[in-house]
Amino acid sequence: MDQAATLATDHLPFRRSQVRSAECGVLRTSDDFNADGSSRHIVRASRRSSPKPSSHKSEHLPRELFERPAGGVDACDTFLPMDRDSAFALLREYTHNESLVKHALAVEACMRAYARQFDPANEDVWGIVGLLHDFDYDMFPTKEEHPYVGEKILEDRGYPPEVRRAILSHAEYTGVSRETPMEKTLFACDELAGFLTACALVKPNKSIFEVEAPSVKKKMKDKAFARSVNRDDITKGAADLGVDLERHIAFCIEALRSVAGDLGLAG
Ligand SMILES: [Fe+2]
Repeated sequence: MDQAATLATDHLPFRRSQVRSAECGVLRTSDDFNADGSSRHIVRASRRSSPKPSSHKSEHLPRELFERPAGGVDACDTFLPMDRDSAFALLREYTHNESLVKHALAVEACMRAYARQFDPANEDVWGIVGLLHDFDYDMFPTKEEHPYVGEKILEDRGYPPEVRRAILSHAEYTGVSRETPMEKTLFACDELAGFLTACALVKPNKSIFEVEAPSVKKKMKDKAFARSVNRDDITKGAADLGVDLERHIAFCIEALRSVAGDLGLAG
């Protein structure tokens, strides 16, 4: 994590380096991030075992970070399992606005679709990043809170640094740079997913199947339409990802079509 982000989180009522779980009485200590986005190391203490350092530098996320060890362990011993169901439950716990839930599902769909191209072994991780990127926004919407409060909640619940860093990086004002394909994809899909939803909702049947990429591109020039959506972020996101804008739009339309029923955009 860069210095700007560290400073930005200094005011929060948590120490970044130490989180005590009231439920377990376990002290978990975690380091921050290297400049390239990889985590330095993670040390976990448990009631049953000595702290064991582990390290990983690949942007391909090690599966063992997210899976409960075989044979089962006390939930307080190590990371909580990071699976889609628990991530969705966390989203629901903090997000009561149905439009925000649908936005989370839309971004998740885009992230999963891109993960299948860029990093298929970690599709679930990419999906969860999409699902949770705004999960604190309903309760903590200010720039002083979102996404910092959410990031601390995720840390407390055992979500790994790569997930938390990606979520921090999607907000320009955090100062956390976007380095990995997962981080760049999240930024590229976030505003676009909102814009595509707006495009679908003005169609006769309110259907994403009525939305096509060329017309979306034209709509982006209409400043009066969906004015809260930042067009520059959409354009910049596609460029940083290295994809042609119209192809990116078409790709995300297809992703949203795959979950059209969940988004209420099936027509
Ligand atoms: Fe978002």
